[in-house]
Amino acid sequence: MRTSSFLAAISLLASSSLVLAQTPAQACNGYPSLCAKPYSEVSYATTHNAYAYTPPGALAANQDNDIPTQLKDGIRAFMLDAYMPPSGATNDIELCHTSCSLLDAGPLSKVLGQMKTFMDANPNEVITIFWENAGNLAPAQFQTVYTAAGLSDYIYTQPVGNTTWPTLASMIASKKRLVNFIDDGADASVPWLMEEYNFVFETPYAILKGAPYPCTVDRPKDQRKQLYVLNHFISSSINVGGQTADLPQPGLAAQTNGPDLVGHINDCQGVFSQNPTYVAVDFYEKGQILQLVAQLNGVTYTGKGATQPSTTTSAGGKVQSSFAGALVAGALGLLTL
Ligand SMILES: *[C@@H]1O[C@H](CO)[C@@H](O)[C@H](O)[C@H]1NC(C)=O
Repeated sequence: MRTSSFLAAISLLASSSLVLAQTPAQACNGYPSLCAKPYSEVSYATTHNAYAYTPPGALAANQDNDIPTQLKDGIRAFMLDAYMPPSGATNDIELCHTSCSLLDAGPLSKVLGQMKTFMDANPNEVITIFWENAGNLAPAQFQTVYTAAGLSDYIYTQPVGNTTWPTLASMIASKKRLVNFIDDGADASVPWLMEEYNFVFETPYAILKGAPYPCTVDRPKDQRKQLYVLNHFISSSINVGGQTADLPQPGLAAQTNGPDLVGHINDCQGVFSQNPTYVAVDFYEKGQILQLVAQLNGVTYTGKGATQPSTTTSAGGKVQSSFAGALVAGALGLLTL
């Protein structure tokens, strides 16, 4: 008995070490070699106006794929615009582009629910959200929606002035792997909603089609920070009844997010002697952003490629007429990015 249970224990040990030997190395944001890197030294594929994919073909849309698809494809930072819900309710936030009458992508609670689902199912992924606080909302309102979505335990807070960021592996081990920045209105009562410009600078974002891609410090004005956003998306100005609107350019996205992006990254690496931390694009599934970000991270892209949207109609009549309606109503001066 004793001998056989001893043998059984030995064989158990042997088989478990066999299992251990076969366990692949932990991957962080998809790659084992990123685990030891500080958050600040990794580059992240970022979607500008990540929520603005609906309705399909909207003239003001910046993306084609929804947030779960973006996450699945490897987008790891998301630019979102916060507005007061049209109902006036303070227990949610509305995701709109320029105004909720132009493009209303629905409530934040839905998007945070999608993020929670992804983060639960993918415990080795570190995610960042950039807030444009267009509606001048109080940080407490964000806190309410994040808490209701069950994201509180995932939130990471970096102390202001501390330039030593944790490694991806340590953020993953602590489960604190959701980083949140806000461009305006941060306050000490909600420390996790971090004042973006304490940590991050951005290159200019209002790039017109055909204009050179700039590598200058736009926000905060003339101040370099530890991390940076390479804003790389273009628009074209149109004039409707004396009103100017800047429209995203899906038809050019393969060029914009392909050869143009290579050039812009190279130029800015030269100017700043630093990789962009966040590479922000429109229509991310066109061009090579995922491959280029992998290259910035020193890894060979192993993803399956970005999901191509199913062919939908181009701008539908309803969308066009509501867009024109918004313009005619004078709800818009300049359509902002
Ligand atoms: C800065 O943050 C790092 C990573 O979280 C931490 O290890 C370190 O102790 C912090 N340094 C200070 C001075 O707080």
